[in-house]
Amino acid sequence: MAEIQLQGVSKKYSPKDDRYAVEHLTYTIPDGSFVSLLGPSGCGKSTTLNMIAGLESVTDGSIIVDGRAVEDLEPHKRDLAFVFQDYALYPHLSVADNIAFGLRMRKLPKAEIEQRVREAATKLELENHLGRRPKALSGGQRQRVALARAIARRPGVLLFDEPLSNLDALLRDKTRAELKILHAEIGATSVYVTHDQEEAMSLSDRIAVMSAGRLEQYGTPAEIYRTPATEFVAGFVGKPRMNIVDAAVIGPHRVRLEGTSLEVDVPDADLGERSAVRLGLRPTECALVAGTAAENDGTVLVVEPLGNATDIMLRIAGGEFVVREAGFSSFAPGDPVRLDARAAAPHVFDAETHLRL
Ligand SMILES: Nc1ncnc2c1ncn2[C@@H]1O[C@H](COP(=O)(O)OP(=O)(O)OP(=O)(O)O)[C@@H](O)[C@H]1O
Ligand SMILES: [Mg+2]
Repeated sequence: MAEIQLQGVSKKYSPKDDRYAVEHLTYTIPDGSFVSLLGPSGCGKSTTLNMIAGLESVTDGSIIVDGRAVEDLEPHKRDLAFVFQDYALYPHLSVADNIAFGLRMRKLPKAEIEQRVREAATKLELENHLGRRPKALSGGQRQRVALARAIARRPGVLLFDEPLSNLDALLRDKTRAELKILHAEIGATSVYVTHDQEEAMSLSDRIAVMSAGRLEQYGTPAEIYRTPATEFVAGFVGKPRMNIVDAAVIGPHRVRLEGTSLEVDVPDADLGERSAVRLGLRPTECALVAGTAAENDGTVLVVEPLGNATDIMLRIAGGEFVVREAGFSSFAPGDPVRLDARAAAPHVFDAETHLRL
């Protein structure tokens, strides 16, 4: 049982820094949930996680676990376990001893330790490797040992910092699915740092999207994807990346893509007195029709077949624009095309504040 509340949490690594590494983070990680901290390199994900762990001090604000402020508690007095990117296994200890290490430190009875090691090893399919040293294991197996060590502790909170990033793509996808099953089984509140939006979307109950030390949005994967709160979130989540272009306001709820004839209804956006906005359209929701030299919205720049879909990059007046078609495409570089966005859910942002309208 562990609910984690961040209340105005800020971090400065040195009093001389003019900038906070993270600033005014306020949100609640519900008991038993899986929450990802998502954002590009340097946005403050690890800093946030390390403050929850107690590995870094909190400069301002408070971290409250189950109603109790923990920012002054030593890490080992917090009921949590950490899984690092580099696994941090003890090279001179066997797999079994690595898994048992934290339990021995806590002076659990021997029989209890043995039982927990066996149980964690079974969950992570390590039964046959218990006698080996970490260097005799593959990267994926080492990752499992690190996970087994964490869950053997049966902590209220599990913290992960990019735990899959050293695995190859295939193993990463497999481990991701296993992690989801594991979380459902053990139910510990999990906080998971990643810069991979797909990983965050597929694993999480909620995602905290961060940029430059600030929280951009905190919500479920569906909320983040369907109603991104800022232009940053819109561009960061979703693959291929959302097209976000300048658009002129031509009616109370209608805009036109800069330099094209494409007009889009934006029934849900409050455009106010604005004459120009930023318009976001997902590549998967747009379509192309053949144009002519005289009438087109742009020309095809690159065609990228992927098997189940084809990404077509266009040059339009306002810049570049990507459309994803199903299957293989009949368009070729140089073709003049017209854009069709009738099936798209448009996203509209203020041109200055970049906030959703
Ligand atoms: N020990 C430190 N001393 C000083 N500044 C630091 C320290 N650790 C991180 N920073 C700075 O704080 C900011 C946030 O760093 P942090 O490591 O939290 O980012 P991150 O989102 O985890 O990035 P990455 O994806 O690259 O791991 C960065 O500007 C970084 O340079
Ligand atoms: Mg980091």
